[in-house]
Amino acid sequence: MTKLSLDKILQSQGFGTRKYCRDLVEDGEVSINGEVIRSVKTSYETQGLQFHIFEEDWEFRERVYIVLNKPANFECSRKPSHHPGVLTLLPEQFSWRDVQPVGRLDHDTTGMLLMSDDGPFIHAQSSPKRHVPKVYQATTAEPVTEELVNLLLQGVKLHDEPAALAAVHCQKLDDNLLEIVLEQGKYHQVKRMLAAAGNHCAALQRTAIGKLTLESLGLEEGEWCYLTPEQLALLVPA
Ligand code: URA
Repeated sequence: MTKLSLDKILQSQGFGTRKYCRDLVEDGEVSINGEVIRSVKTSYETQGLQFHIFEEDWEFRERVYIVLNKPANFECSRKPSHHPGVLTLLPEQFSWRDVQPVGRLDHDTTGMLLMSDDGPFIHAQSSPKRHVPKVYQATTAEPVTEELVNLLLQGVKLHDEPAALAAVHCQKLDDNLLEIVLEQGKYHQVKRMLAAAGNHCAALQRTAIGKLTLESLGLEEGEWCYLTPEQLALLVPA
C-alpha cells in the first residue's frame, strides 16, 4: 500500500515536474471519481487509482509494460537521426517516465516491439542468457530453398562474430517468405544471416516474442497496448 499526494502521483506517471503537476491540480485540471481536486494536501492510495486529466482517463501504473506494432520508418534509438523515434507514437507521458524499447528493431523492420520503464525487466528480457525466442517473418529477394533453411539452422559465420550463429527454428512459409526464430539479438542479425546464407532480406517483421504473438494482440501498425500479467508471463521462455 502506497499513499501519495496528487502532485507526486502525476509526476510519477509522467505528467511533468512536481511544480508543473502541482499547478495542474491547483488549476482544477485533475478529477477523481468525477470530483475536481484542487488541493495537493490529500494523499491517495496509488494502487488501482483512476484519475481524469486533459479529457482522458488514466490509471496509476507503478511501471509500464507495453507492446507497439512498430511501423517502418521509425527508429528505436534514443536520439533518432533519419526518421522519427518510436516514442513519438506513444503518449508523451511515456517519454517523461523514461519508457524505452526493449532491444531494437531496425528502422525498416515492422512488428512487435516491447517497451517499458522497468529497468530490471528491460535488462532481463534483453539478456542473451534468458534465451527468449524471437520470431521473425523475412521476405526474401531470392526464393527460399531447402539449402537456405538448412544453412540457417546449422549456423552461418558473420563477419565480426567469433562463432557461427544459428536459428533455433526456421521454416519456409512461401516462395519468398521465411519464418526464422532467434534467441540472440545481434545487430541486423536476420538480415546479416540471410546475406551470409546467399539470399537478401527485402522486408522483415517480428511476429512473436516468447509465446506472445503479434496476431493475438490485434494491433494495427502504429498501435500499442498495455500488457496484462498473463501476456507478460508468455514472454518468459518455457
Ligand atoms: N534482425 C535484423 O536484421 N533486423 C531487426 O530489426 C531485427 C532482427
